[in-house]
Amino acid sequence: MNPAASPDEPLSIAAVAAELRELSCRFDVDVVAECDSTNARLLAQAETGAPSGRVLAALRQTAGRGRRGRSWFSSANDSLTFSLLWRFPPNTSLAGLSLAVGVALARVLEELELPGVALKWPNDVLLNGRKLAGVLIELAPGVPPQVVVIGIGINLRRPRDLPEALQSTAAALADSGLPLPATSTLLARLLTALSTELTRFAVAGFASAREQWLDRHAFQGRAVRLLSDFAEPLEGLCRGIDSDGALLLETVAGVQRIITGEISLRPA
Ligand code: BTN
Repeated sequence: MNPAASPDEPLSIAAVAAELRELSCRFDVDVVAECDSTNARLLAQAETGAPSGRVLAALRQTAGRGRRGRSWFSSANDSLTFSLLWRFPPNTSLAGLSLAVGVALARVLEELELPGVALKWPNDVLLNGRKLAGVLIELAPGVPPQVVVIGIGINLRRPRDLPEALQSTAAALADSGLPLPATSTLLARLLTALSTELTRFAVAGFASAREQWLDRHAFQGRAVRLLSDFAEPLEGLCRGIDSDGALLLETVAGVQRIITGEISLRPA
């Protein structure tokens, strides 16, 4: 048996492999001190044939990418930022994949006994209403559409240089007051949960994760505002998600099926 990594130990390939145990053969983990974006690096590797299960974690990203063309702020040692390359069988529908990834993340955080974990459509993980983790799934151009790079950023501690705009909206694991797991342990647990979820997703699609997502839905039944890059803001009541992971928004014009955008709670 491998001794558990201590909480202060830095992220290391050997410690992640030891924690993964028999699953370590499914992953090829690399850890770098710095890169532009782990998603960008793995997308490039996907195009040159890198296998499913390739993982890249960076202690620091100089051009971390977020959803909707935003940048992702993270500070060295205060966050876990990594990407996973996954090759699904041909013709797998990827609808709802990012929500299924959110379910896997939430499950790992709940196993740490973190209270107040919830999911915000489409794929944010919240801790007591603030954003703890984000997921960015990208497809590599020039390779089959079933090849995806799943990028995940989790705030471990609140960085001293946190931008003003994120002060009131971001959460960190350390906010809970619970002892933090070693980063290698956390990464290994996340990869284990992702392996289970992605394997199930390949067979059963998002339908297999939908109920678990709804059980954790932060905004179920609540009044929200939807911001989109393509249309005017839309207001309505959150009525959950369908079997493809689309948001069901009850508006004055009836229930609309939303596939992209960003929601926030509507001020009372
Ligand atoms: C979001 O906007 O919520 C998604 C954030 C995803 C950030 C992660 S950090 C690791 C990976 N590499 C990137 O450049 N982005 C993702």
